[in-house]
Amino acid sequence: MQTQPELQEYFQSVLPDIESSIREHLNSLNSHVFPVASHVLDSGGKRLRPLLCLLVAGAMGQRGSPVYPLASSLELVHSATLLHDDILDNSELRRGRQAAHLVFGMKETILAGDALLARANKIISGYGNTDLVSCISEAISSTVSGEILEIQKMCQPNLSRAEYLEIIKGKTGYLIQASCESGAILAGNSAAEREAARELGLNLGVAFQLVDDALDYTPATDLGKPMGGDLREGKITMPLIHFLQELDSEQQKSFLARAKDKELSEEELDRAMRRIRSSGLHLRAKEEAEPYLRTAHKALDTLPESREKSLLARMLEYIRYREN
Ligand code: IPE
Ligand code: IPE
Ligand code: MG
Ligand code: MG
Repeated sequence: MQTQPELQEYFQSVLPDIESSIREHLNSLNSHVFPVASHVLDSGGKRLRPLLCLLVAGAMGQRGSPVYPLASSLELVHSATLLHDDILDNSELRRGRQAAHLVFGMKETILAGDALLARANKIISGYGNTDLVSCISEAISSTVSGEILEIQKMCQPNLSRAEYLEIIKGKTGYLIQASCESGAILAGNSAAEREAARELGLNLGVAFQLVDDALDYTPATDLGKPMGGDLREGKITMPLIHFLQELDSEQQKSFLARAKDKELSEEELDRAMRRIRSSGLHLRAKEEAEPYLRTAHKALDTLPESREKSLLARMLEYIRYREN
């Protein structure tokens, strides 16, 4: 967010309250899962979801202390999905640290994720608003569906763009959508504004993941995870879809079969990544975020003028130009 000074300034002003709310809820976890949850929550992270929740609630007139528990609950849900995701993906690194399941063990990490989800639900139920409860539960359930779909489609030949987009909507888009929509629900705004928040969130979320997947093939980024990690995990994302289109069907089949069985040699991985970069396929993938960013902008335009509205516009710029 350093590229957007106004957004950075706002972020710095709300961060202490986000962190202290997260800390308060972390401290109330069972002592067996506390170190695991702390490991992921204390290792940084952009706090994108709490920030979006605060910005949308603020843009709709709800500011200050009532928003923070909700905002921090979204980070708890997100962290739970990261703990579980690193197990599913067999990932070794998260936020620049060794992944929790490698440090604390598989069982402990699964349970820590469950404990975080339960804690988040408890926080949300405290608002006594069933719309909020249902908004977040639906987002969790859609995230699960996205993860399931990704596993089912892993290394399947001819993964279509539409299927890829459905996966990223599921695993990333809906929780970001809920981050925005829940802010609107808390602000108690009209159905039209709530719909605008949903539209903004989902499109911003899909754009965010498209850019994230492109960054995985971008050298010299510091994402806290290794470059080319997606390909190593056998995960097909937009840059790889473009790469596969340049191969004939036999080549495609054998490349994907070997990727799925993690049999690609370092040299083959390196060759594929170099090809993607030299043909600018990752940049093409990044450009595909543009229509989503435009739709998000249109939804934002329907909201009344406010400081938070203009910061949300900066957020869209941040996603567009993000480099790490
Ligand atoms: C990582 O999300 C997982 C995805 C859905 C791409 P973020 O990129 O928001 O991760 P942190 O919270 O900043 O680590
Ligand atoms: C993460 O997606 C999505 C969830 C945590 C639900 P990825 O597996 O693509 O993200 P990274 O690369 O691990 O951050
Ligand atoms: Mg992963
Ligand atoms: Mg994953």
